[in-house]
Amino acid sequence: MNYVEDVSRVSTGVDALDAALQGGVPKGSWVAVTGEPGTGKSILCMHYAWAGLKEGDPVIYVTTEAEFRDVVRQARQFRMYFDDYEMHYLGGKPPFRKPQIVVIDIFSLLKTAKQLSADIDEVERSRKYAALEIDVLIATIREAYRVLGLLEGGRKSPSKHVRLIIDSMSAFWADKPAMARRFSYQLKIATHRENVTAFLVSQYAMTTKGTFGYGLEHIADGVIHLWMDNVEVAKEVRRYLIIKKMRMTNHYEGAFRVIISPGEGILMKPVSGAAAGI
Ligand SMILES: Nc1ncnc2c1ncn2[C@@H]1O[C@H](COP(=O)(O)OP(=O)(O)O)[C@@H](O)[C@H]1O
Ligand SMILES: [Mg+2]
Repeated sequence: MNYVEDVSRVSTGVDALDAALQGGVPKGSWVAVTGEPGTGKSILCMHYAWAGLKEGDPVIYVTTEAEFRDVVRQARQFRMYFDDYEMHYLGGKPPFRKPQIVVIDIFSLLKTAKQLSADIDEVERSRKYAALEIDVLIATIREAYRVLGLLEGGRKSPSKHVRLIIDSMSAFWADKPAMARRFSYQLKIATHRENVTAFLVSQYAMTTKGTFGYGLEHIADGVIHLWMDNVEVAKEVRRYLIIKKMRMTNHYEGAFRVIISPGEGILMKPVSGAAAGI
């Protein structure tokens, strides 16, 4: 029996990370990408989306932290050209052609929230949905599946492998951090399917890490954690990445030093010299 090829793999877009995961994350995984600001979480998501586009996977990109235009500009600095692909901003004008990437931004969420509020108004007048609500996110992702043509014939789950990126999940519980675990669970139940491999960003500030930071990690199949040395002590930015957990696969258990390089994006090499084989 081949222990590696038993599980199909989805490339992360970063070669050294794929190698550390025996070829990529197991298909269907929900991977939490955690860490402080500036550690490279958003750039890792760009690599993941870009790998999907190149491989012909439809991509759903939820961005709550930045306008997608800025994501595209940042990605270009690392030679990832999202605008070479058919892009559709959900909630905007209907697409002419079937999109390869569906963008969900705050305006898409707002539009779904209004729609849901209007729908429910006929029954129970009191409920008003806000853009950054988990129910709104769930409904918007379903709409993205539909726009991508993945739910033909009344299917409940996508007919083809799709990459889902949410940068970041923390926005959905910013004002109620204690709900992180429940919201993550709700989203997973509603959205997680065999054919969906997700990268979900959890931002945490050092101060909230201990108490509320772990909501998403509890439901995740994998956790890729990024951090940096205390800049006041190191007097420079030194970034690291570690695969804390990944179900259904063996993985490298050491930390990597992360370099974000112009024109290349994320480069990684094992911290421990003994692991040169990786
Ligand atoms: N063109 C570039 N070349 C090299 N490094 C860059 C470039 N653009 C951004 N960076 C680095 O990437 C960091 C931002 O990474 P990002 O993935 O947005 O962090 P996070 O999402 O974890 O907050 C910046 O602080 C900067 O150090
Ligand atoms: Mg970010």
